[in-house]
Amino acid sequence: MSTLIQNGRVVTAADDYVADVYIEGEVVSLIGKDLAARASVKADRVIDATGKLVIPGGIDPHTHLDMPFGGTTSADDFETGTRAAAFGGTTTIIDFAIQKKGGSTFEALDTWRAKAEGKASIDYGFHMIITDLPDERVPEMRRLADQGVTSYKLFMAYPGVLYVDDGTLYRAFRKAGEDGTVICMHAENGIVIDEIVKRARADGHTEPKWHALTRPTRLEAEGVHRAVAIAEVARVPLYIVHLSCADAMEEVRRGRARGLPVHAETCPQYLLLDQSYYDRPGFEGAKWVMTPALREKWNQDVLWQGLRMNDLQAVSTDHCPFCMKGQKDLGANDFSKIPNGAPGLENRMALIYNAGVNGKRISLNRFVQLTSTNAAKMFGLFPRKGTVAVGSDADIVIFDPNREETIGIGNERTHHMRVDYTAYEGVTVRGYPDIVLSRGKVVVDKGAWHGKSGAGAFLKRGAYSGFNL
Ligand code: URP
Ligand code: ZN
Ligand code: ZN
Repeated sequence: MSTLIQNGRVVTAADDYVADVYIEGEVVSLIGKDLAARASVKADRVIDATGKLVIPGGIDPHTHLDMPFGGTTSADDFETGTRAAAFGGTTTIIDFAIQKKGGSTFEALDTWRAKAEGKASIDYGFHMIITDLPDERVPEMRRLADQGVTSYKLFMAYPGVLYVDDGTLYRAFRKAGEDGTVICMHAENGIVIDEIVKRARADGHTEPKWHALTRPTRLEAEGVHRAVAIAEVARVPLYIVHLSCADAMEEVRRGRARGLPVHAETCPQYLLLDQSYYDRPGFEGAKWVMTPALREKWNQDVLWQGLRMNDLQAVSTDHCPFCMKGQKDLGANDFSKIPNGAPGLENRMALIYNAGVNGKRISLNRFVQLTSTNAAKMFGLFPRKGTVAVGSDADIVIFDPNREETIGIGNERTHHMRVDYTAYEGVTVRGYPDIVLSRGKVVVDKGAWHGKSGAGAFLKRGAYSGFNL
């Protein structure tokens, strides 16, 4: 199968030009002017991309599909989640496998690969969540890296669930550094937060807004500070996940200013939503109960500036959907029992394009970097993924910069996630993916699904290559 994309505006992290892109099989084989005139170009399918952007498929390095958490399981599995991702212009995800306490990390990888195989319609990789690491398990990390799992997430939050102590952090950080891999850090002082939560509950507070009121930004900043210090001593690249506020970003900035390989992502929810959402009537605030919590609005400008100035290197979603009915309502009488997480996988590209590029906060090249290229470099996928180039996988989005959509649970063009609400109800965006290709195959064509469950492949990722990010 060969496809010729004609006359589109090809935008990568570095380039911006009008050209044709010729795809043979799963990869881009030629980029140039008037390729149809060349004898070697025989396209089975021609796509006219005049007036459209031709960009690398989005890479979302932070999703939780089919994840047991908070007494339930995230509502999207690998079938519904990856299909929704593709509709939104994301063609690669990196999800999280979770080591059972006392269990082996290989077992966890097998479990999560089995969840994805036969279901995922786009390519996927896994970070490994380490929940305990006695000395005898440390060598597993090298073997995981050999199997393409070259990043680990560790938690300072959620004591009794995913939390690990600083000794475990140090052991994991050191080994990851030795192996050329990278540490993803959920940086929040969960031990102190738990004390604050206990007091709030004892004082009779039950509503969703108390989720935010019990998680001060200083305790995220403290977590980042501690993670940077431990990473420096252990000599490992660090990637702070779902960074939500100015306080925490300042700690990243300080680490980077000292020349350390410290990086961070933020998410659309922290750029576009704020703490006032928890004041919605009744239980509605539960829709945005996620960790870290939404912050005071003024933080948004600081985060956008961080994206512009390279204090932050990526935008992920932390997609972790739970339905309001039957899942979020586990915490109807106690905010601390509301499953933590929100949907967003389908919305990221359009939201960031609209608020970022249309809003003149970031350039078009920076948009591509933040939503695709930098994650590929960080997590050992570049240049196979994250760019439009000869030899790269033909994961390509034909993005219409003028298409308007209003995101909503009732809009079948914007909502394919298996969850009974959207975090961005009523938000109108200008700029939307029209056609999406995953390894050379059209999976979405103007709202119609052409993908196949099981067509997505497990990505054996390489070493960290984010040195210059
Ligand atoms: O609320 C969130 N973020 N849920 C997913 C788990 C995590 O901490 O990333
Ligand atoms: Zn987290
Ligand atoms: Zn997460």
